[in-house]
Amino acid sequence: MAGIALTPPLIRARKGAAEPLVMLTAYTAPVARALDAHADILLVGDSVGMAVYGMDSTLPVDLATMIRHGRAVAAAAERAMVVVDLPFATYHESPQKAFRSAAKVLQKTGCAAVKLEGGAEMAETVAFLTQRGVPVMGHIGLLPQSVRVMGGYKVQGDAARLLADARALEQAGAFAVVLEGVKEPAARAVTEGVAVPTIGIGASAACDGQVLVCDDMLGLTPSGGPRPRFVRRYADLYAQVEAAAAQFATDVRARTFPGQGEAYH
Ligand code: KIV
Repeated sequence: MAGIALTPPLIRARKGAAEPLVMLTAYTAPVARALDAHADILLVGDSVGMAVYGMDSTLPVDLATMIRHGRAVAAAAERAMVVVDLPFATYHESPQKAFRSAAKVLQKTGCAAVKLEGGAEMAETVAFLTQRGVPVMGHIGLLPQSVRVMGGYKVQGDAARLLADARALEQAGAFAVVLEGVKEPAARAVTEGVAVPTIGIGASAACDGQVLVCDDMLGLTPSGGPRPRFVRRYADLYAQVEAAAAQFATDVRARTFPGQGEAYH
């Protein structure tokens, strides 16, 4: 799989392909390196606020944080296309403000594209960006940055509205659209109704691709804790980290670490 670095036009051309697009979030260079050969897109999501910094929503994440993590991931990725989220309050005010934020992200990270949340109401901004050289991935359905007005993390099912949102983004030049927390019939209607790939998270198999938050997929949260039904855990790293830390503590306390072979003589 290594070799060609993927670009927004190559991703857009995968619409309706037999093989779905694979997207995962990545926030650090070592994780980006491990995912690079397997994912088509690495998303430096503003979920970094919750996954890495322990915030209770994505709202406090700022542009400097996105740039720092975006730079680390973009430097590490060779094949996968890197997309960086524009965080809350860095693009809503005006298309001009959105352009300044997006330009900073592209210039300072070396990523391929930005992602922003919102449907028809963001179409003018998406057009402003794409006409000025900024590739944009859209994001509709459940919008974590609007969790306050949505009254929580609620699954969306209004197919007509979602389709109108996706079409507005497509016409504005978005090269792909994330569908988050969308019921299957609505996801199918949107996927069949637009010519750009849809990438689902909690949006069923009726999408052109799938994305998960890497930390959820790796089981980096305690296994008994709350977990959305769409998260499949492919590892249980939280338990492994705990077990490794317990073993290290045991070894240090028993003076069996470091051993002779782990010392300089
Ligand atoms: O920030 C993020 O991780 C995202 C995904 C949920 C798509 O936007």
